[in-house]
Amino acid sequence: MIRVTASTPVLSYIPFSVVREMLMDNPRKHDRTSWLQGPPETCSTVPPAVDNPWRLILLGAPGVGKGTQAALLRKELHACHLSTGDVFRAAKGRSECDLTPAMKSALDYMHRGELVPDSFVLAMVRERAACLRCRGGFILDGFPRTVEQAESLNLLLHDERVHLTAVINYELPVGEIVARLSGRLTCQRCKAVFHGTERPPKVTGSCDICEGKLNQREDDRPESVRVRLDAYDRSTFPLIQFYKRSALLLTVAAAGTPQDVCSKTLTALHAWRSRYIASA
Ligand code: AP5
Repeated sequence: MIRVTASTPVLSYIPFSVVREMLMDNPRKHDRTSWLQGPPETCSTVPPAVDNPWRLILLGAPGVGKGTQAALLRKELHACHLSTGDVFRAAKGRSECDLTPAMKSALDYMHRGELVPDSFVLAMVRERAACLRCRGGFILDGFPRTVEQAESLNLLLHDERVHLTAVINYELPVGEIVARLSGRLTCQRCKAVFHGTERPPKVTGSCDICEGKLNQREDDRPESVRVRLDAYDRSTFPLIQFYKRSALLLTVAAAGTPQDVCSKTLTALHAWRSRYIASA
């Protein structure tokens, strides 16, 4: 197994604008330092304790809008957005010599659009297991992505004595997914996500949040997108059956504006929780 060791203090690896974006709307709600950087780094603020925190997994093909929804749901549910893709992208911002050979190899997989090997991803998540106990709850985005990852997550949650609330599966026709990916623009500095036509920035080419330069993600090039969609069909799609069997799966149509999709998700989640409480 590849061991992912906690690295040297890394706040300096992440541009200030990223930290500012993470903290600007409400610092008590959104400090992901523990997740993005791993131990020994810790979040500067602890979310307020809530009764029945939401502990969710977002499933769906690349480009369906998981990251966009996680950002909106986070504001509504106060749960932390835990994206494995964001951990890799944060590492990508470090200088070459600050990356372990294992992380360099993981970034090569990502660049090609292939899944990073399970052993590496699982070690990385285990290292961040404390985030699963976060008292504000969590929204996992991009993890688990294989049945092996899902089985390991079950064991990890058992060890941490926490339970999943629900798994949301976003669905969208493949043509619309490709359109979302090919139009996606990401801020080089703070990683905020826009879309050329659906969610354009106020000033062309410039981030609304930090005025950083917007560009296309390397893995949104057509050749990588094909590889990512194949990897989804082969490795991640089977998770729908996996979570159906655990009676945790909620399916939400991802068509409509981001706010529409978020409203549909919240309605489904609250109905789900009411049914659960009524049957308990
Ligand atoms: P990751 O970062 O997880 O990427 P992904 O799953 O491919 O998902 P995306 O970020 O591409 O899309 P999204 O669904 O979040 O859509 P978004 O909200 O941005 O992973 C990247 C790579 O890291 C993987 O390929 C792999 O190599 C590696 N990796 C990560 N986790 C791993 C794991 N567990 N195991 C192995 N490898 C792993 O939206 C897309 C676009 O659509 C945006 O432009 C957005 O503005 C727009 N949009 C969103 N919603 C709407 C809407 N409702 N209407 C119109 N436009 C919309």
